[in-house]
Amino acid sequence: MSYSMALPPQQALIGGEWVETAATLQIEAPATGEPLARIARSQAEDVDAAVKAARQAFSGQLGEWARWSARQRSEWLLRFAEVIEAHHEHLAQLECGDTGKPMTQAKGDIAACARYFRFYGGAADKLHGETIPFENDFAVMTLREPYGVCAQIIPWNYPSQIFGRCVAAALAAGNTIVLKPAEDACLSVLRLAELAVGHGLPAGALNVVPGLGYEAGAALAAHPNIDHLSFTGSPETGTHVAQAAAQHHVPVTLELGGKSPQLVFADADLDAALPAVVRGIIQNAGQTCSAGSRLLVQRDIADSVVANLCERFAALRCDAGEADADCGPLINARQKAKLEARLTTAEADGIRVAAKGQLAPSAPAGGHFVLPQLLIDIPEGHEVLREELFGPVLVVQVFDDEAEALALANATDFGLCAGVWTRDGGRQLRLAKGIRSGQVFINNYGAAGGVELPFGGVGRSGHGREKGFEGLRSYTRIKTVAIKH
Ligand code: NAI
Ligand code: MG
Repeated sequence: MSYSMALPPQQALIGGEWVETAATLQIEAPATGEPLARIARSQAEDVDAAVKAARQAFSGQLGEWARWSARQRSEWLLRFAEVIEAHHEHLAQLECGDTGKPMTQAKGDIAACARYFRFYGGAADKLHGETIPFENDFAVMTLREPYGVCAQIIPWNYPSQIFGRCVAAALAAGNTIVLKPAEDACLSVLRLAELAVGHGLPAGALNVVPGLGYEAGAALAAHPNIDHLSFTGSPETGTHVAQAAAQHHVPVTLELGGKSPQLVFADADLDAALPAVVRGIIQNAGQTCSAGSRLLVQRDIADSVVANLCERFAALRCDAGEADADCGPLINARQKAKLEARLTTAEADGIRVAAKGQLAPSAPAGGHFVLPQLLIDIPEGHEVLREELFGPVLVVQVFDDEAEALALANATDFGLCAGVWTRDGGRQLRLAKGIRSGQVFINNYGAAGGVELPFGGVGRSGHGREKGFEGLRSYTRIKTVAIKH
């Protein structure tokens, strides 16, 4: 397998310039384990320079950003959506090679990235405060202001989509940004940043510091001169960054993954439900915060549903992203080893693999592949029911009635998404209200990505909302102005 694709800049982007860092970092292609690029390994001093540039851009000492009106920001964001679309093919190749995900999914991610810029471009000049009736000799208004310098630490599973979600919203609201992409996949982000600067985004509005989590990421989260922190990744790292940010009273948005249930009732339209159940777990090889990773199925149909899913899982094929099979590799050897250790424990605990996909003959030998699989006969409370496996592994539980389904759905510390498959309208509404999560999908799962739909967690899935108008508001704060006359 050869990666002849043209690589983006691999340095840090600081104040509109690509800056060499003292050290660099070798990154690999997940499908082959072979070297792919050598990126900047930003250190605390690089992060500090990036925060300074972002501060200067915000305060008007650097570049034009601080002088841009909401309308100018809107126009730039809308134009940039077109730039992304014009580079769609190339960006998708970068995303596919760097993350290992199937090409069709990489293309979908780039399309979603462009949609974020279009959505927030359209919204940028439609965001406003209010006037409030108060005493007769007062006029009171609220100003909806940008925070200032937004720190954004993003993961490797959806680099371009999460770039769109965070960067478009923060810029639309008038903030400046220091973004730390993940060491495991950041090439699409570096190209997007290059395109942004090349297409007139003012210097310092967006700064990018590639590097390691415990170096560049930790330095950014702990920086005393950031005004807002948005983090997407593991609950453990989320706790670290929130603690660091708390030292300087920096507000945080945390998007920390999930263990989201798909509830399938006996009255469901199974022709619609079962393909969506499979897609919901194998998309991006299960490395999706919102993956539908638990199947809860009603006892009357459990045997036939499992038999049907076994056929579907057995037909799944794993291959490099470029081959565009059902499932790509996991992101790195560490994630693969972690998942395989959990599967070994599960087997030792008597859990059965009801069906498994296959490796395509063309799959490269060095790829971090884990076969899609369906686990059944799982003891109550087992680790595979509680922990995010972050792989193409679906765990099955059986329920008798609606009350038990709800109890099982909520038997998790996480609370990001849920899917409910039933034709019963009353039950749809009861479960929509009763399930403890940030999103509930009825007779669908994921609403095709849902750029426009507020997204975020409950409990161990984090807090704060991104996407949609809610995500834009979360990059602003309210100032109240009371005028006595
Ligand atoms: P992670 O949470 O460690 O990494 C996410 C981002 O945080 C990366 O940019 C990383 O460089 C940065 N980071 C790591 N340590 C940091 C620190 N001390 N301070 C500041 N930033 C830091 O996640 P990792 O290790 O890549 O994956 C482990 C698990 O996390 C996965 O198995 C999965 O369960 C979960 N995860 C969830 C994601 C989601 O979409 N919610 C995305 C990626 C991982
Ligand atoms: Mg980590």
